[in-house]
Amino acid sequence: MSSSDRFSTEGLPRLTESFKRSRDLGDGSNGDVAAYQSLRTSDLMIAVKHINTCYKEAVEAEVEAMKLMADCPFSVKFHGLYTDSTASKGVYLAMEQCLASLRDYWVNRKNPRMSVAKMAPVAKCKQYARQICEAVRFLHSKRWMHRDLKPGNVLIGEDGGIRLSDYGLSCKIDDTICGMYSNPICGLAYRAPETMMQTQMDKRLHYDEKVDVWSLLCLLAWLCTGTELFWLQHALPHGKDHAQEGNEAMREEIWKVCGTPQEGEKGWPVHLETYLGRCSKLAPVSASNEKLVELLKSRDKLNRLAKDSFLTPEFIKMLQWALVCNPAQRPTVSALLSHNYFTKEYPLPLPDENNFPRPVKKNKN
Ligand SMILES: Nc1ncnc2c1ncn2[C@@H]1O[C@H](COP(=O)(O)OP(=O)(O)OP(=O)(O)O)[C@@H](O)[C@H]1O
Ligand SMILES: [Mg+2]
Repeated sequence: MSSSDRFSTEGLPRLTESFKRSRDLGDGSNGDVAAYQSLRTSDLMIAVKHINTCYKEAVEAEVEAMKLMADCPFSVKFHGLYTDSTASKGVYLAMEQCLASLRDYWVNRKNPRMSVAKMAPVAKCKQYARQICEAVRFLHSKRWMHRDLKPGNVLIGEDGGIRLSDYGLSCKIDDTICGMYSNPICGLAYRAPETMMQTQMDKRLHYDEKVDVWSLLCLLAWLCTGTELFWLQHALPHGKDHAQEGNEAMREEIWKVCGTPQEGEKGWPVHLETYLGRCSKLAPVSASNEKLVELLKSRDKLNRLAKDSFLTPEFIKMLQWALVCNPAQRPTVSALLSHNYFTKEYPLPLPDENNFPRPVKKNKN
């Protein structure tokens, strides 16, 4: 693999060293990710994501976002971009190699009893929750949104800390009042309801960075329970999760707990008002704190003892306050970080330098 100019690499950091492929790290919808070892310094490992150049927009978004996140300690570090001189279709994104995705690290799907989430103290769960929020806050402060927050897109760095990654769907936030963005966005289980209220015939939808706040809250609920908060009981036919039927089924699940948006309800963004009350097969349901608690408890596959449950009273209160369908009432990430869950309730999040369990140190010789 060597660097070249066949894809636009202007202004990007370049890697001058040569690397050889060492092992696979993961598969994604945009391409595969593998570990590469430096031919010069054998203990220098990087992760390389191969993306087909037909996903030009994804490559550009990914590179732009990783550059914006360069100073954020909780984002994956970008090393450079390569094109392949042998294959005609391919771009290689080189980045810091991480231990695993949060999805694979936190919950051991093959052996749930051996999950890190089973053994970690509550303060560890809070530390991860805080670091993930910090990363998203940093991204939003750069007027950029992620649009694909989920456990597979959050990595654990070699130091045991959080590294937000996979910026392939990310984009610049449009600061005009009626921002219109591409459709679809993120996986169904993490998709904000306002994007599911609009018709799927529309190639572009009205929404803003609050879609990330919805996904973030669903992600934190996953962190605390080991299971997705919202999922459909009946699997959709393959490839249908972005179709109208997927959206309709999922939003009904959300309405049951967070309440059905009503025609004439005040305080909604103007561009969403027309959709209110026209998108439910359910008789109107009001938001219910009890139903949310019930749902969270039914999702809790970690089965930790009550006193050690990650579902602390303040976590539940934070979700009840923040998980609202109306994006205008959903708090910002900064407001989430000021919630008692992070700032007052004991145990407080572990400090950043305190990592559990300690990752294995690499032998430098
Ligand atoms: N820097 C890295 N270090 C270690 N593993 C990684 C790294 N980047 C990605 N992976 C692994 O590869 C998987 C897929 O990567 P990524 O999410 O970036 O690809 P994708 O094609 O955008 O995936 P998807 O569309 O499924 O979200 C991750 O879930 C993770 O397991
Ligand atoms: Mg991914």
